[in-house]
Amino acid sequence: MSEKKSGGDFRYSVGESKVPWHAVGEFFNGSDALNLVRFLLPDNGDPEYAAAYQQAADALAKLENVAGRATKLTLGQNVAAAEQKAVEYFGSKYACFVDNWTGGMEIAYKLAGLKAGDEVIMPAVTFIATMAYPLSIGAKIVFADIDPETINMDPADVARKITPKTKMIVPVHLGGYPVDMDPIMELAKKHDLFVMEDAAHGMGGMYKGKKLGAIGNFGGFSLHEVKNINSLGEGGVLLANDDFAGKQLANARFLGLDFTRKIKDWLYDISPLIDRFGNIQVAQNHSVTEIQAVGLLLQMQRLDEIIAIRRKAAEYMNSVLSQEKGILVEKADTAETYGTHHLYLLRIDPEICGGNIQTLSKKLAEKGLTNITHFGPMYRFKIMKDMGYDEEAIAATCPNTERMFYHSYTHLPLYPLTEEQLVYQAKAVVEAVREMKAGK
Ligand SMILES: Cc1ncc(COP(=O)(O)O)c(C=O)c1O
Repeated sequence: MSEKKSGGDFRYSVGESKVPWHAVGEFFNGSDALNLVRFLLPDNGDPEYAAAYQQAADALAKLENVAGRATKLTLGQNVAAAEQKAVEYFGSKYACFVDNWTGGMEIAYKLAGLKAGDEVIMPAVTFIATMAYPLSIGAKIVFADIDPETINMDPADVARKITPKTKMIVPVHLGGYPVDMDPIMELAKKHDLFVMEDAAHGMGGMYKGKKLGAIGNFGGFSLHEVKNINSLGEGGVLLANDDFAGKQLANARFLGLDFTRKIKDWLYDISPLIDRFGNIQVAQNHSVTEIQAVGLLLQMQRLDEIIAIRRKAAEYMNSVLSQEKGILVEKADTAETYGTHHLYLLRIDPEICGGNIQTLSKKLAEKGLTNITHFGPMYRFKIMKDMGYDEEAIAATCPNTERMFYHSYTHLPLYPLTEEQLVYQAKAVVEAVREMKAGK
């Protein structure tokens, strides 16, 4: 197969030319497309698969004869369309689609001007990604205790932990339940701090009429394969509400080069990032592919519907579990706080249940339920000790985290479970609690 290459779609763009530079080194052909179909829709053992697959193969062979080839595979119009969609849907001023949310947070931390010795307040319970960049540059992580009802950051403890060195507050909408943002934003205003919402789990959730991720100076989402929606396995969206930062997002994503503009001269068109204090920061490469953007656009269309299904599942869990004394059900959605139900937060009162969450977790595992305990106290992670943090001293400032993590909470999945799985999950929790109460 020979293809005529045109020079109109690459960063070097030379226009019409006999031997143009071109975006794609090697094209993907019809047989590659068929293998992509097989990857996304694999044989699950259904006896009709082989015949249906052959039909798809025949159709693709025909299509290949009359189709062109994808000539732009990264940072093209689909990425731009996904960002436009994000701005419209979340109501933020700017959006940037990046390789993953850890990368998005790195950009936000840089533009917020975080440096060695600065303090960042984040909840004691989150995922290691939230603190990766601050730790890597020698900024100090200050852990705010959690609210026992939601296990999100407690704004009252944030207020206690602000010092003259504090530069940022990073609320995390854990499991997709909205953090109480008003007091956080007030504190930030009072002390001139930047707020970055880690809404890795919170895409599509709302707080007082605003979309999670679009409330702080920065916010964003993970599109990793386990999240409510994903962009073919990996991805992240960074939102910005500050003009100084938003206008630099294109440069921040790829090494200081803005591909939305024509590059005139490689020697001079690479700009440093300028953080909010006027200091220079160096951009890394957080690019995403067009096919990731296609995946994101497709799943974003279904986001509200996906959340609605999860919400129904959470309501069912609440309706069953609330019948059993000692089980503390998840806070329901209200007109003001609308979660994404990424995970179901299961809490118990150990006194009433006659045992703590660790005993319950074992029982749940025996009954075939996966309950996730990896959202635990970050100050207990070995890396923190290795980096000189005093875990016991920090634990003493986070009493709710200690009590809740070791005695009271775990997470259960809510991804589109079959009705049978959902009913089994709720029933198994009740049974396990009853066994504990009976001392079995
Ligand atoms: C709370 C939280 N923050 C950040 C991240 C990082 O997201 P990503 O995997 O897209 O880098 C995750 C991923 O699971 C997460 O759970």
